[in-house]
Amino acid sequence: MTLNPALQPLPAPASEHDAERRQILLVTAGVAGVAVAATAVPFVASLAPSERARAMGASVEADITDIAPGGIKTVEWRGKPVWIMRRTPDMLAGLPTLDSELADPASKQNQQPDYAKNLHRSIKPDVFVGVGICTHLGCSPTAVSAGSNNPSVGSDWKGGFFCPCHGSTFDLAGRVFKNRPAPTNLEVPRHKYLSDGRLLIGEDDAGAA
Ligand code: FES
Repeated sequence: MTLNPALQPLPAPASEHDAERRQILLVTAGVAGVAVAATAVPFVASLAPSERARAMGASVEADITDIAPGGIKTVEWRGKPVWIMRRTPDMLAGLPTLDSELADPASKQNQQPDYAKNLHRSIKPDVFVGVGICTHLGCSPTAVSAGSNNPSVGSDWKGGFFCPCHGSTFDLAGRVFKNRPAPTNLEVPRHKYLSDGRLLIGEDDAGAA
C-alpha cells in the first residue's frame, strides 16, 4: 500500500491570525507615542470580522473535492490544524488488522462524536477528520506513509502518523498504538457535511463544539 504523494509531512499551518496580529502589533508600536491615552480594547475587537469569528472559535468550512485518494488537507480551526484525509480502500482494509496493537482500538475514551464512533472513526468511511495535535504534550504529528524507512514505525507499518517529540504513533484513524506516551487517540472534532464536497468543522447538527 502506498500513500498518495500528497501525503507529506504536515507543517504547522501558516496562521493568518498570527500574521494579522503581527501587523497589528507593528501598527500599535508605531502609534504608541501619540496614543498613550487610548482606551484599551480586547484584542479580538481589533480584528476583521472573519478573523474575529475564527479567534472566537467559529466553525470553518472546507472544500474536500480536491483531496485525491490517499491525500490529506489541513485546515485551521480554533488555531489548531485539522486533517482531512481521503483514505483508499487499501488504507481502510488495514484498520481492523491493527486492533491488538492499539491502546484504545474502539475509542472508548470518547475522543470523537458518536457518529464517528466506529471502526474508521468518521462519518463517511473514506474521509477521516482529525485534530492534528498529539494527545501527549500537544506537538503536531507527521504523516508517515506505508513502507516508510522511518525506523520508529516498524517494517509492517500500514501508514499513519508519527509524533517526533516523544515517539507516539497513530494509525490512519488517529488511534494511538500501545506503549506510547500519548494517552488517547487523536480527537475527532464535531463536523458535518454541507454537501458531498464541503465540510463544516467545529459544528454538527447538535450545535457548535
Ligand atoms: S507530544 Fe506527541 S509524543 Fe509527546
